[in-house]
Amino acid sequence: MALKGSIRVPSDKSISHRAVLFSALASGTSHLTNLLPSDDVLSSLAAVEQLGATVVRREGACGIDADITGFAGEPVCEHTLRLDCGNSGTTTRLLMGMVCGLGVDAELVGDESLSSRPMRRVIDPLEAMGACIESETGTLPAHIRPAVGGLHAAHYDSPKASAQVKSAILLAGLQANGTTSVTEPAKSRDHTELLLPAFGVPVAVEGLTVSVDGPAKLQAHDMSAPADPSSAAFIAVVAAIMEGSEVCIEQVSLNPTRTGAFAVLERMGAAIAYANRHTEGAEPVGDVLISFGPALKATCVTPEEIPTLIDEIPILSVAAAFANGETVFEGAAELRVKESDRFAAIIDGLGAFGVRAFASGDDLHVCGLGRDGFADADDACIAIATHRDHRLAMTWYLMGLASERSVSLDDAACVSVSWPGFYDDIEGLLA
Ligand code: S3P
Repeated sequence: MALKGSIRVPSDKSISHRAVLFSALASGTSHLTNLLPSDDVLSSLAAVEQLGATVVRREGACGIDADITGFAGEPVCEHTLRLDCGNSGTTTRLLMGMVCGLGVDAELVGDESLSSRPMRRVIDPLEAMGACIESETGTLPAHIRPAVGGLHAAHYDSPKASAQVKSAILLAGLQANGTTSVTEPAKSRDHTELLLPAFGVPVAVEGLTVSVDGPAKLQAHDMSAPADPSSAAFIAVVAAIMEGSEVCIEQVSLNPTRTGAFAVLERMGAAIAYANRHTEGAEPVGDVLISFGPALKATCVTPEEIPTLIDEIPILSVAAAFANGETVFEGAAELRVKESDRFAAIIDGLGAFGVRAFASGDDLHVCGLGRDGFADADDACIAIATHRDHRLAMTWYLMGLASERSVSLDDAACVSVSWPGFYDDIEGLLA
């Protein structure tokens, strides 16, 4: 079996969230095309409607097309809103920054996984700007109340390279008087910085420091979301592993803060080329052509690279399992607080396939078996826990395909968080 043909994977989740949230803040109607039609983005759309934005949705060529008329800085605030963020960390953390200075009284809730994820990383710096966000345990539910005396501009030295933290603070900065800035230890994805200017808000970027001047008003903007490099990475890894594969993944965001997985795969010996490069708005976009790499070799992924491929580590661990030698993901602590504890789940999941993986501090080691190590697969079905984590469900399904093992997932449907048509799309490429 091989993967062959062309595919336009679903649209970028991070860009879709930002397009929805920024349109809601703006005055006027933004015409958005190709938004990701996944549960996470639906959580953002539902939240902005509750806040007073008008959303007119249509089925588009590659996802949801939506005309969003913003509430222009004056959201609904007569009663306490209950904003259900579902499984979406990006919806939660960006909403906290976006509404904490808007006089809204809102309770943010989420599913079991989201309710266990750390929110202090956003709440603390926002409170230092004057926000009032109550959370007993530093997790959801969190209650946002109007900030007494409004927000004040601040500088925040973030201990983590986190685009959600950075974006939350910048969004709060739009309601504050003066310059709000964030310095990160390494550059996290920069879609907020690239997109705010298109909505009429200048953003200054100097090295690892990003700043906005408030108070600022957003103007409606029309845009389209490119395909998601995080989803593309799933196809790329399997194409690199399965003999005879040759796939073109179309119109992918090639933003350098997101393409670390492709660079790592190339380093491991996969054949990757790029075509039709252009920009859409400020985002670089292009086709990714990937084919089988006969002898993948282990690599060391450095802490600086981690933010550029954080969501791709589960599927990259599969590439590492098929490579010769020991691959190390250095400084991957953030994996422990994603939709599940992906650090532990990767070790357990690879173990179920007979691949040794282990932690040494915050480094994740995968002892690759090489392709030959999977040659004598037995027929027993491997039962794997997804922990209701979309990226783990996709990872173990594809590991089963690549190793020709049958796999049973306890919750295959959770892929809808980022890729609703995943199983059919993979089926369509199998040759
Ligand atoms: C995201 C940022 C990353 C990423 C998440 C989406 C975003 O999280 O893992 O899936 O859209 O800003 P962190 O900011 O916590 O690193």
